[in-house]
Amino acid sequence: MDKIKIDISGVLPFVSNKQIDALEPKALDAIKKLDEGTGEGNDFLGWVNLPSVISSEELEDIKKTAEKLRDKCDVVIAVGIGGSYLGAKAVIDALSGTFASNSKVIFAGQNIGEDYLHDLLGFLSDKTYGIIVISKSGTTTEPAIAFRLLKENLEKKLGKKEASERIVAITDASKGALRKLSETEGYKTFVIPDNVGGRFSVLTPVGLLPIAVAGFDIHALVEGARTMESQTHQPGAENIAQIYAVTRNALYNDGKKIEILVNYNPKLHFFAEWWKQLYGESEGKDKKGIFPASVDFSTDLHSMGQWIQDGERTIFETVLSVESPQSTVKIPSDDDNLDGLNYIAGKRVDEVNKMAELGTRLAHIDGGVPNIRITIPSIDEKNLGKLIYFFERGCGISGYILGVNPFNQPGVEDYKRNMFALLEKPGYEEQTRNIKNRLKN
Ligand code: PA5
Repeated sequence: MDKIKIDISGVLPFVSNKQIDALEPKALDAIKKLDEGTGEGNDFLGWVNLPSVISSEELEDIKKTAEKLRDKCDVVIAVGIGGSYLGAKAVIDALSGTFASNSKVIFAGQNIGEDYLHDLLGFLSDKTYGIIVISKSGTTTEPAIAFRLLKENLEKKLGKKEASERIVAITDASKGALRKLSETEGYKTFVIPDNVGGRFSVLTPVGLLPIAVAGFDIHALVEGARTMESQTHQPGAENIAQIYAVTRNALYNDGKKIEILVNYNPKLHFFAEWWKQLYGESEGKDKKGIFPASVDFSTDLHSMGQWIQDGERTIFETVLSVESPQSTVKIPSDDDNLDGLNYIAGKRVDEVNKMAELGTRLAHIDGGVPNIRITIPSIDEKNLGKLIYFFERGCGISGYILGVNPFNQPGVEDYKRNMFALLEKPGYEEQTRNIKNRLKN
C-alpha cells in the first residue's frame, strides 16, 4: 500500500481510451528523448537520474552543514526565488506542524516587498541567524537585494568573520556574481549542477540543504525519488508518469486548457505552488501549454467551487489525495446536539474530508470537469520524494508530447529587461531610452 497511484477513470466520460492511446507513440518518443538525451533542451537533463547518482558523501556534507547551521542559529533564512525557493518551501511546509512557531527555516528573496523585508529584519532583531543564499545564475535581483540587506545586518551584529561562518551559498560552479562574492568572502558553497534547471533542482543542495536545516530526513526524500525514478523508467502501462502525461495532453487536445491541482490537505498548498512553476515554466511557450492552477479544498469550494462546478468548461482537475493523515482527531458526541452534528459523531475528521472529496469528484464530473486522481499513502519524506520525481518525469514527457522544449524559459527574461531599463542598470542605456520614450507617448 505504499505506492503512489493514478486513477484516470474520471476522465473517460470526456476523452476515450482511444484518444488517450493515440498519444502513446509520442509518449514513447518523449521517454526515448529524455533517456537518450536527443530532444530539445538536452543540456538540462541532469535531473533525470539525479536521485540515483547523488552520492552519500554529498548527502552527508549537506547534513553536516545543516547541523552546523542549526547549532549556531536560532533561525536560518533561505534566500531564493522560483526554482531556488519553491521546492524547499513545498517540502518543509508539507512536513511541518501547521502551527509550528519555531520553524528553523524562513524564506526571503522571493519577492521585492519593502514591508516584507522590513518586517523580516524586525523579526530577526533579537535572533542569531544564518543565511542560505541560493541562485543558479547568481544574478537574480530579488534574492540579491534580500541577501545584501541580510548580510549587512548580520555583519553589523557579529562582525564579518563570524557572519561568514553562518552564510552558505548555493550557486553555479564558476559563473555569476554570487560565486565571485562567495569566494571573496570565504563562504561554504554548494554547486547547482550545470545540467539541472532551477525548477528541477529540489533534489540538489538547492532544496536539500534548507530541508535538512528544517530537521527533515533528506536520505528518505532522495530514497523515495530513487524508487520513483526506477518505477517510471520503463515505458508502458505501469508507468504512472507516462499515464499522467498522456492523459493531460489528451484532455488539452480536447479543449481542456486549464489544469487545477486540488488538495484536501492544506499542508500541500505550497506543493501546488512548486508544481505550478514546474509545469507552467516548462510548457507555457510557443503560444501553447496547459495553464496550471491550484486550489485548496474544501476551503476553496466556498470561493472557487461555483466556477469550477458551472463556469466555462475548459478545465480539468488533478486531485492529490492523501490516504492517511499524520494524526487522528474524532468528532465528539454531544448530548444536546444543538448543532445537529451527532450523525457524524465518532467519525474521524478525515472520514468527513474523504466524503467531501468523493462528493466533489462526482459533482464536478457531472458538471463537466474531468478528474485525474493521484493517491499518496501519507505525507512523509519518502512519499514526497516519490511525488516530486513523479511530477518531474511527467513534466518532461508531457512537454515533449506537447512539442515544446520543456527545459528553457525564454519568456521570463522580458520583464527583467524592462525592469533593468527602468532602473537604469548599466548596460541597458538603449533600452532605458526606448522605454522612457514609450512611456511618454
Ligand atoms: O526554473 C528556473 O530556472 C527559474 O525559475 C529560476 O529558478 C529562478 O528564476 C531563479 O533563478 P536563479 O536560481 O538563477 O536565481
